[in-house]
Amino acid sequence: MQRTLVLLKPDAVERRLIGQLISRFEAKGLSIVAMKMLRVTPDLAKQHYAEHVEKPFYPSLESFITSAPIVAMAIDGLEAISVVREMLGATSGLKAAAGTIRGDFSSSRQMNLVHASDGPEAAKRELDLYFTADEFCDHTSVLTPFLR
Ligand code: PPS
Repeated sequence: MQRTLVLLKPDAVERRLIGQLISRFEAKGLSIVAMKMLRVTPDLAKQHYAEHVEKPFYPSLESFITSAPIVAMAIDGLEAISVVREMLGATSGLKAAAGTIRGDFSSSRQMNLVHASDGPEAAKRELDLYFTADEFCDHTSVLTPFLR
């Protein structure tokens, strides 16, 4: 089992897509084990996007991610990190395949609705930025042992 961080970004909240997006993750069989709505501060944005801070697009990315509330979730599942990334599609909604979340709902590289960790190290680092250990509510289903 893996745990990944998923953010429903300001455009998802503004467009009232929270429910539809959560439904897609649940329909896939993934489990939400922590969730909160919050406003990303400039300081949190710099920590979250540390590898992009020096890139030319960073100022715009920071203003976007801090512009309105987001929903942060921890999601569990078998190979959850890559499964969620596949569900999102390519970074840019302009290039993402139809059937993926960005392909179906976004036509922008910046307003691409959802962020998800891109690997196990990023997942650990990013989960620690948004959640404390006591905020995870692990819940296993009777069917969990059959997931393989
Ligand atoms: S890159 O350029 O390959 O390092 O970027 P990428 O990993 O594809 O994207 C990282 C996040 O930066 C956002 N991004 C941008 N925002 C604004 N303008 C431009 N040009 C741009 N390029 C990338 C992109 O939405 C990614 O956000 P997350 O939250 O990780 O999806």
